[in-house]
Parts: sequence; structure tokens; C-alpha cells
Amino acid sequence: MKIVIVGGGSSYTPEIIEGLILRHDEFPVDTITLVDIASGKEKLEIIGQLAERMIDKAGVPIELTWTLDRRAALKDADFVSTQIRVGGLKAREKDERIPLSHGLIGQETNGAGGIFKALRTIPVLMELAEDVNEICPNAWIVNFTNPAGIVTEALLKYGAHKKVIGVCNIPYNMTQSAAEILQEDPKDVRIEFIGMNHFVFGSKVLVRGENKLDQVIDALVSQSVDFSPANIVSSGWSETFLRAVNMLPNPYHQYYFQKDSTLKKDLEAYEDNGTRAEQVQKIEEELFETYKNPDLDIKPEALEQRGGAYYSDVACSLMSSLYNNSQNIMTVNTLNNGAIVDLPHDSVIEVNCFITKDGPIPLTVGRIPQQIKADILMMKAFEEQVIKASLSGDYYDAYRAFIMNPLIKEEKTAKMVLDELLDAHKDYLPQF
Ligand code: G6P
Ligand code: MN
Repeated sequence: MKIVIVGGGSSYTPEIIEGLILRHDEFPVDTITLVDIASGKEKLEIIGQLAERMIDKAGVPIELTWTLDRRAALKDADFVSTQIRVGGLKAREKDERIPLSHGLIGQETNGAGGIFKALRTIPVLMELAEDVNEICPNAWIVNFTNPAGIVTEALLKYGAHKKVIGVCNIPYNMTQSAAEILQEDPKDVRIEFIGMNHFVFGSKVLVRGENKLDQVIDALVSQSVDFSPANIVSSGWSETFLRAVNMLPNPYHQYYFQKDSTLKKDLEAYEDNGTRAEQVQKIEEELFETYKNPDLDIKPEALEQRGGAYYSDVACSLMSSLYNNSQNIMTVNTLNNGAIVDLPHDSVIEVNCFITKDGPIPLTVGRIPQQIKADILMMKAFEEQVIKASLSGDYYDAYRAFIMNPLIKEEKTAKMVLDELLDAHKDYLPQF
């Protein structure tokens, strides 16, 4: 079985390699090919050599190669995982800095920055989907590339290849935290999710079938335990909010329900240490120095400084479940198909699914609770508009997405920030 990792030069790759090594008995991968683009050649080389040392140390029979030739790499692939960043961290820095400089939330997957990440990424992944469909039509694309939900919807609705599943570590992190609160084994805890990627709520916390949501909310009220990945500094949630919403918010909800205080906090952090992209560039430099050490042959702990830590658990479990037709339940981004009654069938949602060899089958969620209904419907309409803009390259489509987003909205600011971002990213936006 062959896995191709597109964006293989990413500093996250040692995690997925570790995940594949650990699961080798149940998921016997024999070939891994890392692919990257010319500007990432040096990183790809460092990662390739580290991955080789990890595989040698583990003594598993996996043949590893790395290449800049994507089409050649895709030959005979069974799984294609995508973890690309069009324009690199420099582009992310602009996504974060430009909105912040106009008093808007500046974030990688939310608000104006998230829109631009989608505009840069969707056309590139559409091309990848064409290649996959032509060269390895039976392969599954497991998409980690952000904004993962929007990108997955674009691919499933308009892409050439339909075997696409989107993944994120937030549902995984939330489940681990709930398990910690309840002092249960995470394997026995299943959160019922409702919503979309980075805008998902936990509506039930099932422990061996019994709903313990109240207990988790009580704990969050009194101890301010948070589910945040390394990139988000949480301030906790008020008791009133938690009791009224009566669901678990995800860490990204702070941008929407604590907008003013989060903006203030982010602006202060920006003045002190630069944006998250700048911090991540420093972390990456250190990580790559560590990776170069010829004595290193395991995944270094320093990778935990990245917000996406543990993503490989999700990716590798998913691929193994597809391969083994496990029919276990996992939270992934896939077509709604009626699971949430209030959303279109072809919307992509983040939802618990049975994972079969033919793909994920979403479990019924039902109606959206009233207190979050308007938000979910608005955010989905916004996401659809972002996809439209990324394919049409039409200025008004992009502007419409800006004024539909609750973190932007304001008509004149929308135009200023849109114009500045379009100019800043023009090399990566051929459709505009
Ligand atoms: C979370 C999100 C990922 C995102 C990451 C950012 O884990 O779920 O989608 O990529 O944070 O982490 P970073 O270290 O790049 O800021
Ligand atoms: Mn994510």
C-alpha cells in the first residue's frame, strides 16, 4: 500500500511518519512518497532523511522516497494526504497582519485571513484532484489543508475527484480534554458534534452511551479547563454563556463570541511578539535545526509547540479505518447528506461518521439548536460564497464574502482590507 504526502516538507511530517510506523501491523503501508515544490526542496531533504532514520530505527518494511515530481509520485497511490501552504508562512503573516492593522481579527482560518487562505488554496487543490483522478483514481485524498472544511467542500462539489475527506485535530483535542475532565479513557468518550470545521459545537459527551455534557460544563465553569491547541490562548468561557448555549464551544469560537477581548489580546500579542505566523517561523527554524541532527531518529517533542500537534493520530486512524473497513466512528469533514436537516445535502460538515471502505457515512444529527442556528446558517452561506469567489476570481464575489463574514462586515473596512490583501497576495491569485 502506498501513501503520498503532498506538502511532505512540512515540519509536521515526522508525526504522520510516526503514526504510520506505530500502526504498521494493522495498516501495512509499504511505500511512502513525500512530495513538495521546488522552493521547499531543502526542507523536503531534511524531512526525508529524518523520516528514513525513523523508519530504519523502527525496523518496519517501508520504502520511503521524496521528490518534486508530483505526477510521478501519484502513480499507484492508495492514499494522498494534503498538507500544503500556498505562499508559505510569509503569506500567512500577511493574512494575519493586514486585517489586524485595520482593527479586524487577523487569523489563519477565520475572517479575512481565512478567506484569503481559501482563495489561494482552492485552485491548487483543484489541480491536484485532477491529477489524482487521472493517475490514481481509486486513491482517497485526506485533506488537512486549511481552511479544511471550505477546501473539502470545494473539492467535493466542484473537483474532479470525489474520494475526499477533510480532517482537523480540534474534535480530537476536545475529546481528549473531555476525557481528562471526566477521568475516562478517551476511547470511551464520544462527543456528538454539530457544525463545520473550526465552527463546530459539542452537543453531547457520551461515555459508554451516557450523556455527561452537564458534568463537563460544570467542570468548565469551575476550573476553566480549555481545549485549545498551541496557537490559541483561551480565556475560558463565562458560566452564563456555557449554560445558555448548553454545548461545548471549540477554541476558535473565541473569535466570534469574545470578539472584542480576543482582538485586544491578539493586538497586544502582535505588538509584543509579532503574529502567530512570525512565531511559527521561529519555531520552524528551531525544529528544522533539530531535525538535521543525524542522531535524531524519533519525532521530537518540540513539535508539540505547533497547534496541529496530534493531527497524525486523526490522519492515520482514518486511513487505517478506510483500509480495514473498520466501521468505527470518527469525526471528519464530509458531505452532510441529510445529517443536519437544516443544511443542504451537499454542504460539508464536521460530523461523526461510520468509516467504511467506501467512505464516511454521517450519523444523523437532526436540527440545529435554535441558539446557534443563525450562526451556522450564516457561516455556511459565507463558506459557499468563499468557494464561489475562489473559482470565479470575481472582485464582487470576494467582496460579498467579506461583508458576509461576521468578523468583517463593515462595508468600507471590507473594501480596504480586501484591496490590500489582493495586492499583497497577487502572485498566488492567478484567478483574480
Ligand atoms: C489547530 C488547527 C489547525 C491549524 C493549527 C495551527 O490545530 O486545528 O487546523 O493548522 O491549529 O497551528 P500553528 O502552530 O500553525 O499556529
Ligand atoms: Mn484544524
